Amino acid sequence: MKHLDHSYKEDFQYKHKNPYHDKLQEFSDFVFRDTEGEALKGKWHSDYFKNEKPLTVEVGCGYGEFMRSYTTDHPHENFVGIDYRFKRSYALAKNLSEQEVKNFCLLRAKGERLGFTFGKNEISKLLYFFPDPWPKTRHHKNRLFQAPFIEDAYNLLKPGGKLFVKTDHDGYADWMSELINSPVVQEKFSLELESRNLRADYPEHFLAKYMTKFEKIFISQSIPIKAFVLVSKKV
Ligand SMILES: C[S@@+](CC[C@H](N)C(=O)[O-])C[C@H]1O[C@@H](n2cnc3c(N)ncnc32)[C@H](O)[C@@H]1O
Repeated sequence: MKHLDHSYKEDFQYKHKNPYHDKLQEFSDFVFRDTEGEALKGKWHSDYFKNEKPLTVEVGCGYGEFMRSYTTDHPHENFVGIDYRFKRSYALAKNLSEQEVKNFCLLRAKGERLGFTFGKNEISKLLYFFPDPWPKTRHHKNRLFQAPFIEDAYNLLKPGGKLFVKTDHDGYADWMSELINSPVVQEKFSLELESRNLRADYPEHFLAKYMTKFEKIFISQSIPIKAFVLVSKKV
């Protein structure tokens, strides 16, 4: 498969010019920065969480409204939230530091690095909510939801593991749907849920029960939320 972003490559190196990279070290007991997270590949349960609870990973957790509510409500799961924006991650780290249940790690890193950060079958649920839509055609190459991301999801998810996606953006939902319905994805995943109006179609689903920060804005603008749930066919 063609890798469109150089950060998917073995020799990619993170470069840090942002002061929040160092400031994040204030929370070094539960915040890791890119290569620190990659050092835990395949060892998240044994070396970080020190338990065997199922691992949920959220890519693009942003200010972490979802992460904070979900981790509080699901103490029986481990959780890694990933975002590449420094200041946003710092704001989230501050809030997480006040949380009582400590079943999480916040990782300042790129979603393209999933395959370097987690081992085969290490993840039970992979979440991707309201990714940047990159609406202009010439920017579509920046969309994370592409074949290499799906390939990583398949490798890292356990057999029967699930990928949950939500977007406000019709064009990105069409793009996702086209990829999901392609033979290369269909041989790896079955489509458990597809909706162009999540709250109308599946009001009881956990995806509808939790609202992210961006989702609140889209809902206040009466934009229907598009959602997909893929289940790994791995045996
Ligand atoms: C539109 S915001 C949505 C944030 C959050 N999921 C929500 O719904 O409130 C997109 C988030 O994804 C993060 N992001 C974008 N591209 C990313 C990438 N390649 N890797 C990791 N995070 C990324 C951004 O920093 C931003 O916080």
